[in-house]
Amino acid sequence: MCGIIGSTGEGATLNDLLEGLARLEYRGYDSAGVAVARADGTLDRIRAVDGTASLELLAELAKGKSEGYIAGLGHTRWATHGRVTTDNAHPHFDCSGRIGVVHNGIVENFRELKSELEQTGHVFSSQTDTEVIAHLLEDYLKHGSTLKEAVTESISRLRGAMSFVALDADDPKILVATKRMAPLIAGSGSGANFVASDIPAILGKADTFYQIGNDQVVVVSPGDIKLFDLSGNSLELPEIAVEWDLEAAVKGGYPDFMSKEIFEQPAAVRDTLLGRLNSEGEIVLDEMRLNPEELRNINKVFIVGCGTSFHAGMVAKFAIEHWTRIPVELDISSEFRYRDPVLDPQTLVIGVSQSGETLDTMAAMNEASMLSAKTLVVSNVMGSSMARAADAVLYTRAGPEIGVAATKTHTSQIAALLLLALYLAQVRHSIYPSEIADVYSEMIKLPQKIEEVLASDASIEEVAQSMVGIKRFYFIGRQVGYPVALEGALKLKEISYLPAEGYPAGELKHGPIAMIDSDAVVFGIVTRTRLWEKTISNVEEVRVRGAKIVLIANQGDSESEVLGDVIFEVPKTHPLLAPVLDVIPLQLFAYHLAVALGNDVDRPRNLAKTVTVE
Ligand code: G6P
Repeated sequence: MCGIIGSTGEGATLNDLLEGLARLEYRGYDSAGVAVARADGTLDRIRAVDGTASLELLAELAKGKSEGYIAGLGHTRWATHGRVTTDNAHPHFDCSGRIGVVHNGIVENFRELKSELEQTGHVFSSQTDTEVIAHLLEDYLKHGSTLKEAVTESISRLRGAMSFVALDADDPKILVATKRMAPLIAGSGSGANFVASDIPAILGKADTFYQIGNDQVVVVSPGDIKLFDLSGNSLELPEIAVEWDLEAAVKGGYPDFMSKEIFEQPAAVRDTLLGRLNSEGEIVLDEMRLNPEELRNINKVFIVGCGTSFHAGMVAKFAIEHWTRIPVELDISSEFRYRDPVLDPQTLVIGVSQSGETLDTMAAMNEASMLSAKTLVVSNVMGSSMARAADAVLYTRAGPEIGVAATKTHTSQIAALLLLALYLAQVRHSIYPSEIADVYSEMIKLPQKIEEVLASDASIEEVAQSMVGIKRFYFIGRQVGYPVALEGALKLKEISYLPAEGYPAGELKHGPIAMIDSDAVVFGIVTRTRLWEKTISNVEEVRVRGAKIVLIANQGDSESEVLGDVIFEVPKTHPLLAPVLDVIPLQLFAYHLAVALGNDVDRPRNLAKTVTVE
């Protein structure tokens, strides 16, 4: 997956492309590149490869070349086909060097198309799948098609999920873009019009934003944006209501996005919970498009997601089963659709995806729809592909998350999923209204309690610095503490690159305990639940084998505290809400350890924030 951007118009500048790419770098940063056209028809390409600093190098290389452009394309790459080299960096050109393409996704049938094109004389200069698109466009243009027609013909021949933008230097003011199961939006501004992978890329430059649907072609010219289907019929351009401002998409005084986003969690959770209870004390979910009758008929729930979103889904399983007594199955998105799941119209499949664009989760949701299940997505991005396709949507209101390692969207997802669990219980009358009110009143205290956890940032930083040099970390918890353990280990792996395992505390003795010795650090999630005593016994088992113990415990819990070498305290809350608080010291620990190790926390190696490949 990658980030793409295009701009055209009198006011179009190279700087807009570079700034847009900087905001898209969460989508990958293996290499970066731009192709910019002048009114006289010349097309300049600048490409950069420099570890995680490719975008900085690109900006450096672009210095002094900034003005006189009327249109351009930009790209930031997360490599799939072809090694990380300058030749493989986008934009890619056709044989003549007149047609430029930036692409996100995978052309699954590129090998067959490439050999076909080579047989007719096309010469390729990269190992990417993308380059076939430029050569295909070249063929269609040679045979008299317009760029719009050529893009339409080409996307019909390409297999896979993707979006791309093309520019022809012979008529450079016109950009043509298309998408299929990959993100793409358009935007109009006073000096220029745009197309990009997402909204933050053009915030502050465009003032109106438009949705592009699957298998649609958008023609962006100065002063005009037109949308077509693949038969060439003109379509209405749907506007996207954008509530984010530019400030939310920049660092706002923090050294990096990750720390900014960790500290935005009180607001993110508060906003996600805002206005969800009416004056009668009932949960109201405005975006819910499934009616109470449909929800009453549900007899099975599946939850699917990837990475951090999957961990939020794990917490939801406990809450939904506990409050509604509906059986819940959990699955990693990329496993779900290939296991031939047993679904019917009384099954609800909940997809958890902050971006609403992760291909594996999107494909799992599509599979669920095809098998006639009801689908609901929990997403942070209004109008994202999954939000549009699902039967129902529940938005987290965390604001844009740029840091690759998810933090504020995770705690907001848990908050949203807990609301959903309560809502299901309410429509099914499976718990008393007074219990719903009690849980909700605990939920709205969470933002204040998150503030209290964040206040221990400095001491967590000290602990993290003291652990530079430790080579192995284990995280253990039970019940809702288990997803917290997994998430703590995932955060550490993502940004510190150190081996870290999350385990159900009771399972440790069935194998992993063999690895415990005095070089290991074990984090125990021992906030008070009915399983506290059992978890504490598991902590004892590793303590006596010499591991250093860090405990996430409730404030003032002296019985827990005596067992830890280090204690990270969190306030007490309802046991099912505890993951929202318990995970925060682990986010801060991973953050500070990674910073102490000199890692780039916003751009961890080999990762991308939104994974739009299978
Ligand atoms: C990538 C990111 C993770 C994220 C996962 C799911 O792997 O690096 O941080 O949790 O995708 O993303 P989603 O947008 O579907 O929540």
